[in-house]
Amino acid sequence: MVKDKILVLDFGGQYDQLIVRRVRENGVYAQLHNCDVDFDSLNFDGLKGIILTGGPQSVFDEDAPKMDERFFKLNVPILGICYGMQYINHEFGGTTETLEKGEYGKTPLYVNVKSKLFKNVSQESTIWMNHRDGVTKMPKGFKKQARTMNTPIAAFENVEKNIYAVQFHPEVVHSEFGNEIIKNFLIDICKCNQTRKMGNIAEEIISDLKEKYKDSKVVCALSGGVDSSVAATLVSRAIGDNLYCIFVDHGLLRKNEASEVMKAYKQIGLNVKKVDASKKFLELLKNVSDPEEKRKIIGNEFIRVFEKEAKEINADYLVQGTIYPDIIESGKGKASVIKSHHNVGGLPEKIEFKGLIEPLKDLFKDEVRELGLSLNIPKEQIQRQPFPGPGLAIRVIGDITEEKLEIVRETDAILREEIKNYELDTSVWQYFTVYTPLKTVGVKGDMRTYDNVIAIRAVTSEDAMTVEAAKLPYQLLEKLSSRMINEVKGVGRVVYDITSKPPGTIEWE
Ligand code: XMP
Repeated sequence: MVKDKILVLDFGGQYDQLIVRRVRENGVYAQLHNCDVDFDSLNFDGLKGIILTGGPQSVFDEDAPKMDERFFKLNVPILGICYGMQYINHEFGGTTETLEKGEYGKTPLYVNVKSKLFKNVSQESTIWMNHRDGVTKMPKGFKKQARTMNTPIAAFENVEKNIYAVQFHPEVVHSEFGNEIIKNFLIDICKCNQTRKMGNIAEEIISDLKEKYKDSKVVCALSGGVDSSVAATLVSRAIGDNLYCIFVDHGLLRKNEASEVMKAYKQIGLNVKKVDASKKFLELLKNVSDPEEKRKIIGNEFIRVFEKEAKEINADYLVQGTIYPDIIESGKGKASVIKSHHNVGGLPEKIEFKGLIEPLKDLFKDEVRELGLSLNIPKEQIQRQPFPGPGLAIRVIGDITEEKLEIVRETDAILREEIKNYELDTSVWQYFTVYTPLKTVGVKGDMRTYDNVIAIRAVTSEDAMTVEAAKLPYQLLEKLSSRMINEVKGVGRVVYDITSKPPGTIEWE
């Protein structure tokens, strides 16, 4: 069955991903493409409407972003937002100019409630503005539908041509009736069916995978993380044991992690082999203290181990847990560049695959989580805090030894246990301990000690791009310090890292 689809054409605005999200939240599939996407390369099956996004430029700039004019002739409704409105205006012969006063932030809006776009919207409401240019003269056949103090034409429409446009940003939460406006466009104007639900999506993806890969051998590197687990589960539901998963234990995992993760994989029903390569990794990391060097060594060795295992399977395809933001971040709308995060160090080079299978490439992180839950993947696996590919290697500052790793593992286990006891495990984004090579003097049972400093790092964040140190209760910090020093040999002092990002980063290395 062809599903209803909205095409979002990206003119470079800040909120483009948000537009896609809002459409999806209304149960309709949306796809983001660069505005200059090759028109002939697109599949228009199920296309119900097009949204043109905002953007930082002026339509009269020489290098102003443009789209193929055939998009206007597809006979589906079009909604222009901000630059999108100015672009429509410009293309149809109206005048756009730099206004006397720009508008930034919350602004009162007055609308014509008779417009289909403004059904159930109050005549006066608050919207989010972010512009300096504006429409000063509309093209022939277009009618004004809204105004603000500084923008006399804040929305227009041409019902015959099925074109609607707004100068403000309905996708931003500060626009009081933003969701109504988007919903009106999707449901009343584009006549979309709101059929997109996670349960259906899982079924769709699985049946699509089944059709394409039912007689193929497929291989997947599992990392313990959410994305690779969900991607592998989907493929496994489609082709069963023809999916061969490989879990490389590099010896840099947290306490009991390898066995817990393997247990979860078995519970999900994945055909998975654990390869214990920890000795080799530790050998290669001996006396290496530079963080980037550590990352490189781990990444390369990971690929080497995986290549060796995958070669034996002689698989046709490789599964990757690439998600939608990865594709957008790595060059909007262009071919997917795989983030090195996904399989620690990139793609195997020595094996030729017929292709990549990326079942999550249209989904946002929280959609992946929801999908994972709908597939009955255990909650602990889905709600796991992010864990870096190089693992504890970048949480032991300086060179790595088994003893130092043991100290990080044990202190980290105490931290995880107490964070869970305080029910902070879902509100804190990431929490871990760091082994520092700094030795300090202490006293235990009248005896002088000379042991290491352990740092606790716990941060809150939305996306790992900006973070704040979590305001952990003081009693919890005291308990952590006391437990770590008493229970873990080699710990002489515990400190709490209160650095935000920027200027710090989450990990210490
Ligand atoms: P930073 O330390 O840059 O971390 O603030 C941002 C997020 O990325 C994780 N991280 C990594 N993940 N390989 C990974 O797979 C790495 O080399 C790596 N370095 C940092 C970090 O844990 C945080 O979630």
